[in-house]
This record gives sequence, C-alpha cells and structure tokens, in this order.
Amino acid sequence: MKQFEEKILGEAALVRKKKPSGSQGSVAWKSPSNIAIVKYWGKRPGQIPANASFSLTLSRSHTITSIDYTVDASRKAPSIEFLFEGQVNDTFSKRVEKYLDSIKDFLPWLRYSGLKIHSENTFPHSTGIASSASAMSALSVCLCDIEREIYGEKGMEDFLRKASFLSRLGSGSASRSIYGPMAEWGSTSCLKESSDEYAIPVTNLHAVFSGLRDSILIIEKERKKVSSSFGHELMKTNPYAKLRFEAAEENMRRLCRAMKQGDLNQFIDIMENEALSLHAMMMTSSPGYLLMRPNTLEAIERLRTFRLDTGHPVGFTLDAGANLHVIYPEVHEDRIRAFIESDLKELCTDGRVIHDEAGMGPEKQ
Ligand code: PMV
Repeated sequence: MKQFEEKILGEAALVRKKKPSGSQGSVAWKSPSNIAIVKYWGKRPGQIPANASFSLTLSRSHTITSIDYTVDASRKAPSIEFLFEGQVNDTFSKRVEKYLDSIKDFLPWLRYSGLKIHSENTFPHSTGIASSASAMSALSVCLCDIEREIYGEKGMEDFLRKASFLSRLGSGSASRSIYGPMAEWGSTSCLKESSDEYAIPVTNLHAVFSGLRDSILIIEKERKKVSSSFGHELMKTNPYAKLRFEAAEENMRRLCRAMKQGDLNQFIDIMENEALSLHAMMMTSSPGYLLMRPNTLEAIERLRTFRLDTGHPVGFTLDAGANLHVIYPEVHEDRIRAFIESDLKELCTDGRVIHDEAGMGPEKQ
C-alpha cells in the first residue's frame, strides 16, 4: 500500500550498514509557504489525506533553516538544539524533537546525530500566516541534504520526492512546498502520478496560469483559533465529511480540466468554492467555528462586485483563518493592485497587505 515508504525503508536498511564516523558540516535551505486552491481538510491514519489537494507555491513567504551537524555512529544518543529567530522556543523545539523522533526509521543516522538547528521566517510577525508548510519543508529538505552529503549524490527527482515525503509527515501541506509553481498531493483520478505519500509538481501549465499573484489581506493579525491538526480531527465527526471529500475530488477533476484548457474563470470558481467549503466544514463541525470576520465578508463582496463590473479575472481563497488571499494573473497586476489600494486595504488591520506571487520551491542557501 505505502510503496514509497517501503522503498525508503529499504534504502534506510542499506544506509544503516554504512555507519559514518565523524561526518560533520552545515546545510541551509530556504523553503516557501503555499496556498491551497483545492483544500486538504481531513485525514486518515499515517498522515494520509482524505482527499487530494492542489496549491500555489509562494515566493516571498519563506522559512530559512540552517543545520550544523555532526553524525558519528559512536555517539550513544542524538542531541538537538533548536533556535527560532535566534531565541530558544520551547513549543517549536518540542515539535521539532517529536518530528525528528518520528522519522528516524527513514533517516537512521538521526539516532547518532548532533544537530544545531536555526530557523527564521521571512514573512512579518503577527500576520496570522501559517508557517508550518514552509518550516517543515525547509527542515526536511535540510535533512535530505545532510544525508546526501554523508552518503553521496541522489538524483534530483529522488531527492525532492524524499523531501516531500518527509515534509508530509511533519505537516501535510508542507509536502506541496517542495515544488513550484504549483503542486498536488494525494491520489486523484485526474493525475495518474499522484500519490498519498508525497506531492508532485504540476507542469505543462497553460500560459494564463504562469506568474499568478497572491495579495494577502491581513484582516486579522492574531494567530488562528483552530489549529489545523484540530481541524483535521473535527472532520472525523463532521456530518458532511463524506460529501466534502467527494466534492473535493470532483473539484480536482474540474481543476485539472480548467488548467489544461487555460480556463481562468473556472479556476476562480473552483478556488472560491473550495475556500467557502473549507469554512462551511468549520462552521458545521462540533464545536463549530466562524473564522471569517466581518471585514473578510466585506472584502469578498467588494471583490466580487469589482469582478462583475470590470470583468477582471480575480478571485479569492482563504486559509483556516480570516485573511483573504486575492489571486490574479500577472498581466492584470496594475489594475488589481490599484483596486486593492483603493477598496480593500482599508479593511485590513493597519492597512496591511502582503504581495506575494508564484515561486519555484526550496532554494539552497
Ligand atoms: O498541513 P496542515 O496540517 O497544516 O493542514 C493544512 C490545512 C489548510 O491549510 C487549511 C489547507 C491546505 O491544504 O493547505
């Protein structure tokens, strides 16, 4: 069933025989966040998604992670030091330690490694932007790079696939941050190479989808009230869960068609349906959550009126929070930026809007 996991375990068994003595070095990677167009909300055991998801990889919202490592088979136990933006952060440290422990079968050298990890985000504080996708993908790609330094080259495709597989185990959506400008994760009938175990890059895009922009309206700067792990949990008892998973698969099929045909209007229609469905799931869970704020709704109204009046292809999506992601093609940037300035900015906390755009995935530093 988990074919890739078995392959990785097989390779790990070989690696275990070649125990390194005293390898040391440092690696650093910058990895982006992503925004889902078709949403992952609900999972099965083993971090398997209940439905396939599809996202736009961003290019300005990053985590930069560096690791100084020593790996020596004579070491009795691993040691980990973790600093976030130069400071000790207990919550993040515990999460990283738990994660590293959970993936040690796939990276057997972790058992006798000493790691000094430093991580920082390029996106501003207090913007409500979730950082788990960029953080977990940056960490995973660093780990794969250490493995490559110790045990030798891997082909790029294998390297990225393993990084996506490991990212997924840290945070499902992180698996998609490994590829840009668009990525898909989860088995779906419309992409035959798709897998529940890792994400894949979505290539051969119609030209209308190249260079998409994402202007993030910071409606609320506090952290979201529902963590995504709790949200996935809520789907186990949500009465509409089964219908939602079927609808997501149908949206994936429609999206694949729209992407092939260059149908931007269909793309926008699916994206908005997905955002509102995600929030409908949160509202109908028990307990139920209303994560949109009055200004989120006002911004949606204004955006839809603008689209109707001008015919500009601009749409929105939402994460599990109040902030609105305004998505549009590069060629309409001037006109849509002007509209954001004149009509939407005033709805944001401190007038804050973060302008991001499609990016190509992690970069070695
Ligand atoms: O990867 P997680 O467990 O943080 O879940 C991500 C959930 C959403 O961001 C709401 C949707 C998605 O597909 O990214």
